[in-house]
Order: sequence, then C-alpha cells, then structure tokens
Amino acid sequence: MNEIAPFDISENRSSEERRAAAVSALEDGSVVLMEELPFAFTADEEALYGASLGDGVQKNITLDPYLGKLSGLSNVPAETKSLIEGILGRYKDTAQGWLQDILGDYAQNLEPHRTTYRPVEIAGRKKIGKVGDDKAFRFDDSLLHPDAFKRRPIKGNRIFRIFTNINPTGKPRTWKVGHGFEAFASRYLNGIRDPHLGEFAFLNMTRQTHWPRTHYDHIMLNLHDMGKRDAAFQNDPEHVEFNFPAGATWFCFTDQALHAALEGAYCLEQTFELRVGQMAAPEKSPLKVLERLKGHALV
Ligand code: SIN
Ligand code: FE
Repeated sequence: MNEIAPFDISENRSSEERRAAAVSALEDGSVVLMEELPFAFTADEEALYGASLGDGVQKNITLDPYLGKLSGLSNVPAETKSLIEGILGRYKDTAQGWLQDILGDYAQNLEPHRTTYRPVEIAGRKKIGKVGDDKAFRFDDSLLHPDAFKRRPIKGNRIFRIFTNINPTGKPRTWKVGHGFEAFASRYLNGIRDPHLGEFAFLNMTRQTHWPRTHYDHIMLNLHDMGKRDAAFQNDPEHVEFNFPAGATWFCFTDQALHAALEGAYCLEQTFELRVGQMAAPEKSPLKVLERLKGHALV
C-alpha cells in the first residue's frame, strides 16, 4: 500500500537520518507530509481568491518552462497574469528550498518542470479537456491513477510532485491513495499490447508527442487508463482517504504512488523530473519494476 508518511520539519531539520528516512519513504511510494508548511499570498495576490481565471479547457493554470509560457488562463488583465506568474515563480523557488532542507543533496538532482495553480474545486468539477465523452475519464483525477504524460514522454525518468494546500477558508484537500505499484502493474500488464512498428515515430511526426514515446511510456499510459476504467479496482475498500489540511505541504513520486484527488480547491504544485540512476534505490522505480516483470529493457 502507498502510505502517508508524516515528516516533522521542525525536529532535527538537518539530521542525515531524517533525510534518509524521507528518501526511503518517498522511494517506497509513500506520500511525505509536512502538516504545517504553508505558502502565503501577498495582499495583492489574495484578491485572486474567488476570481474566475480558468479557460474552461485546462484543469490548472500552468507555467511551462519547456513551452516558455503560461497556459490555462481565460482572457484576464495583464496585472492578473503577472500576479499569477509571480506566485508560480515564487512557489517554485520556495518548493526547491524546502526540498533542499528536507531531502538534502537528493534535491539537487530534481529537475524543475511545470508549476501549476489549481484554484478550481475538484468535487463536481465539470468535464475539462478538448475530448469526447469516451475519453473524459482520462482527465478525471478523482479516479485512482499513477501519473503518465501523453504528449511529453518521460522515458523512464521519475515524476516527482510537491503540493501545498493554500485554501483560504481552511478547507482540506482530500486524496485517496492505495495499492503498491507492482501489485497494480501486475494486474494489467499482460493485457497491454506491444507497440506497433513505427508507432512512436508516427505519433511524434504528427505532433501528438513533443518527442518520441518509449515502450515504458506506452505501458504507463495504458496502466493509467486501465486502472481508471476498472470499477472493481476503483472501489477496492483497501484504498484510504486522507485530508491534507490547509497550510500543509506534501510530496511523492506520482508515477508510483497511486492517487486520486476527491475534494478541495486552491492548491499549488511543482513538478520535477528525476533520473532513475539518481535514486537511492533505482530498483524501486516503475521502470525497473516493469522491466523485471516484462523481462527486457523498456527504454
Ligand atoms: C492529480 O495529480 O491527479 C491531482 C492532484 C491534485 O490536484 O491534488
Ligand atoms: Fe495525478
């Protein structure tokens, strides 16, 4: 099972033992939680609470260093846009500082990617994404899943995400976690077809991906979809719900720690990528687990 592992940031902050314990919990697929590690808005930024900002297509407002732009925003005034850019930039820097404190040298290998602002209430969130009803399940974060990227193949690297609940009224953010990655993957692996010859080159040529997918990405995307579509799996009573209080910060490898976001509004998130070789125990990575189960290399 994936677990929520509380981390007391005030106690022995720089102790190597605490750092090793946090790394080990993280690599085991747990969610590492700091119950009181808030991120504050300035007085100007607080005016954003309650504002309608989203474009109705994307779930989040995203600052993407690869594309070099902010997306997911409706036609807002330039001042609003720069306030949001300021928040996202500051959150990225703050998150990097926290991770340096908590994980020590391990944090230096986390390569920052997108930063997101998630103001919309998850419960009852209306269908988002430019897709038909048959594909809408893919965007439904209230179903348990590992993260996998369709357009930006991760090629076996790890997806690490840190979240802070910045809800102004004190509402928690509710997640469900469950099942260890290997048990989850074993449930579906034999049902995943092998990639077709030239499939990844075609997807890339037709700009459906930013660079070519690997067999690993193909499997992870299938696991993501198969798990979300499996009602028996989704309703497994073993899975546990957890309320992250307002002012809490938590992080995990979201490609490994199965998660569903059930309720809550106003959250910040920073994504990082980590190479498998830079893990303390690379054999715990989804790449190595899947390669062992399949019996051959996947990237
Ligand atoms: C997700 O990664 O599935 C959503 C997490 C969240 O927004 O709390
Ligand atoms: Fe997710």
